[in-house]
Formats: sequence, C-alpha cells, structure tokens
Amino acid sequence: MGITLRVITMGNFRECLALKLEPGQKNFVASNLYSLAEAKADGISVPPAVYSGETMVGFVMYWYDEENKYGHIERLMMDRRHQRKGYGRAAMVEVIERLKENPGIREIEVSFEHDNVGADRLYASLGFERTGQTTDDGDETITKLKIE
Ligand SMILES: CC(C)(COP(=O)(O)OP(=O)(O)OC[C@H]1O[C@@H](n2cnc3c(N)ncnc32)[C@H](O)[C@@H]1OP(=O)(O)O)[C@@H](O)C(=O)NCCC(=O)NCCS
Repeated sequence: MGITLRVITMGNFRECLALKLEPGQKNFVASNLYSLAEAKADGISVPPAVYSGETMVGFVMYWYDEENKYGHIERLMMDRRHQRKGYGRAAMVEVIERLKENPGIREIEVSFEHDNVGADRLYASLGFERTGQTTDDGDETITKLKIE
C-alpha cells in the first residue's frame, strides 16, 4: 500500500485539521490541532500528513531522543473514511524506516489506550512488544520495538 509522508504547510494544514475519527475513537488520540500546536512548541516532534496519491488520509507524529537513542511514535490516526485500507500499517513502516536512519538507535516506543484493540493488533503485528509498563497516568500500555 503506497503512502507518502508530507510536511504540513499553509497549503494543507486545514485539511489535516478536518481529518475525522469514528465517534468511539476520539479518546484514543489527541486532536490534530493539539498535536500540531504541541509539535510547534516542543521543537522536536515531526508531524507529517499521510497521503495516498494526492489524497490526505491521515496524520502521524514522531520524535527521536538523540541522547538516549530511542524513537517515539507519539500520534497516529487515519481518517474514518480511509481506515482498514492498510494506510496505518504503511505509515508505521515508513516512520520506523525514518527513525532507523538515526545512527545507534536502540528501540522505538509506542503506547495506546488499554482498550484500543486496533492499535494493539497493528503494533504487535509490526513486532512491538509489551514492556509491562503503562504511561505515568496509567491510561496507556507501553510497547517497544527493538532495533538490531
Ligand atoms: C489505529 C489506526 C491508525 C489503524 O489505521 P488503519 O489504516 O485503519 O489500519 P490498517 O488498515 O493498516 O490495519 C492494520 C491492522 O491493524 C489492525 N486493526 C486496524 N483497525 C482495527 C480495528 N478497528 N479493529 C481491529 N483491528 C484493527 C488489524 O490487525 C489490521 O490488519 P488487517 O486489516 O489485516 O486485519 C486507525 O484505526 C485509527 O486512526 N484509529 C483511531 C486513532 C487511534 O486509535 N490511533 C492510535 C493511537 S495509539
């Protein structure tokens, strides 16, 4: 499933804010508005849109911790009209490849709400393993992908 990741600019940020989830998914991920503001403020997160051809289908955000040599995938969402088409998996694969370009990277971390079955299955199928830990607020299961 071919996707590309493209920088959010003045030309496409409104489209990114208009991407929608199913009503039952809203607690699974922060809004794209919040994420773009956070990326602007923290200066480390990379927040590209996910495209299939010329159609924006989703959004992802990730960062790399150079000191501790690990990557973190902070957000992933596919518009409700474009879910279950393989785009989420393809976006994850692309972000993993990008993070692996950092010399010496040891692992990539991603977490999800305990009842987020879709995310759980997707990450497990890519090799992410549960660490037994949860996020500080206790709401999310932490998983890690070891990089050889
Ligand atoms: C999680 C999400 C990004 C997956 O994106 P997607 O493009 O729909 O996923 P894909 O089509 O690539 O599916 C990959 C695999 O994930 C799993 N999966 C995805 N959605 C699922 C669902 N609703 N129920 C069960 N499994 C699901 C399946 O194992 C699927 O493989 P399959 O289709 O061969 O069975 C998308 O469902 C989404 O945006 N959810 C709401 C936001 C969210 O939960 N983000 C993650 C926060 S941690």
